[in-house]
Amino acid sequence: MAFIPEKYTQYTPVGLKDRTWPDKVIDAAPIWCAVDLRDGNQALINPMDLERKMKMYQLLVDIGVKDIEIGFPSASEIEFNFARKIIEENLVPDDVRPQVLVQAREHLIRKTFESLKGAKQAIVHMYNSTSVAQRRDVFKMDPKGIQQLAVDGIMLIKELAQDYPKTDWTLQYSPESFTGTELEVALDVCNAVIETWGPTPDHKMIINLPSTVETSTPNIFADQIEWMSRNLTQRDSIILSVHTHNDRGTGIASTELALMAGAERVEGTLLGNGERTGNADIINLAMNMYSQGVHPGLELGNLADIVKTVEECNQIETHVRHPYAGELVFTALSGSHQDAIKKGLEAHQKEARNHWDVPYLPIDPTDVGRAYETTIRINSQSGKGGIAYVLEQEYGFKMPKALQVEFSQVIQKIADKTAKEISSGQIWEAFEGEYLKQDKGYRLESLKTDYFENDEGEEEKIVVHARVKNNDDDTAIEFDGEGNGPVSAFINGFRKALNVSFKLNNYEEHTLSNSSCAQAAAYVSLLNSDGKEFYGVGTDSNIVRASVKAILSAHNRINKG
Ligand code: KIV
Ligand code: ZN
Repeated sequence: MAFIPEKYTQYTPVGLKDRTWPDKVIDAAPIWCAVDLRDGNQALINPMDLERKMKMYQLLVDIGVKDIEIGFPSASEIEFNFARKIIEENLVPDDVRPQVLVQAREHLIRKTFESLKGAKQAIVHMYNSTSVAQRRDVFKMDPKGIQQLAVDGIMLIKELAQDYPKTDWTLQYSPESFTGTELEVALDVCNAVIETWGPTPDHKMIINLPSTVETSTPNIFADQIEWMSRNLTQRDSIILSVHTHNDRGTGIASTELALMAGAERVEGTLLGNGERTGNADIINLAMNMYSQGVHPGLELGNLADIVKTVEECNQIETHVRHPYAGELVFTALSGSHQDAIKKGLEAHQKEARNHWDVPYLPIDPTDVGRAYETTIRINSQSGKGGIAYVLEQEYGFKMPKALQVEFSQVIQKIADKTAKEISSGQIWEAFEGEYLKQDKGYRLESLKTDYFENDEGEEEKIVVHARVKNNDDDTAIEFDGEGNGPVSAFINGFRKALNVSFKLNNYEEHTLSNSSCAQAAAYVSLLNSDGKEFYGVGTDSNIVRASVKAILSAHNRINKG
């Protein structure tokens, strides 16, 4: 980069000394206005055809957006026809206000009114650029000339609105490139527009302040909004709206600070499509509110379907890290995060907590239709907690701590070798192969258990009669064993029959909640002659058989070394 210091200038702060916005919080949803069908559409390589427009419109209605900028009817036939279609086919619910954009030019304003013939209610959104750069280079006008352009446009809109008295008209005015305009100039134009239109507290007009190009830090934008909010005339007859773009990557922050500074309405798009780096993402803003306990007034519970429809309409894929909507945003891959999520989710569920405070998950993923299973995915960065979580959530196995450590080494080897994500299916395959399949070493063929009671009717001893097969040489051995429980009885008999020495170190069992027919899982750890621990796992509809299978599994693993 050839850096020329004077090429760019630092943004001038507003110098608002008694600003109030820093101490405010957002405690209510704004009026949402979706501009996907206009601003978003203008930014698409292949603009939406009627079918895609209809799909997007329906989605916006379904999620509860009430102000919908449906297009720029004077700009193209598709735009005009779309407006006609939704009006003529009665597709505008009574509580939805279709909004249309128009420049402050006579023939365009006239065409716009034609497109809205028969609408029950509508917002006519007129804009003209007020910025220093556009006044100087594009319009070659001074501020007074720009103001006159706006006032002339509003006078025509007022006149045409009277020609269609059956429609409930709302006026919206945007001093386009507001953030490139001196505040006093923007204020004078807006106040002149307000005076010309004559809104009332019962029939407000909308002043929409756009960061057409985002050029400052969000605090400066907030100061500008607070300053405008204080100085606009007839403030009680105005709905103050903001329309942010994301050139500096702070469109969301700018919008949120603007709401704290007095804005009451937000224009944006679903997932943030729009000119250059896009518009503010309404879903992101709404979910930020939701995560603070503020109802955003939009229904986003099935976010995956919403994302799919937006992708189809815009023909743009969503980034996997896109806030709330991306495939990976509720997924932890690193071991320590997985461990904390697993423990946090378990505590949340066990204590049936209402309040959400689970590490690394800003919201409950199920609130937007995501399954907990997707919160943990396994690769070489993952740890025992994550692997245990997958095995428990998807297959019902609650591995003892030491087994988690042992099995994580098996998975680590696979992950290091493949250098790829390990799917839950692969984890299961590895678990089955390592512990459950008994195609090598010893396998249980039959088991009979006799219980003996003493004179007081208490259980005194247990004798097992077992037949096990050695898969490696196809031989079978039969033996009896005695103990105070089936596990010790089997171990005693088996050790003697094979003349081997291992010690039982740990035994745990549980029913398998995920299995359709009642099954039990047993976990046995044996210590070999050097004192090294080996785990074995067994499953069966009978808990004693499950335990014996676990003993054989551990023993086979000792032999494997
Ligand atoms: O970004 C912008 O300034 C606009 C206006 C038309 C509101 O899209
Ligand atoms: Zn815009």
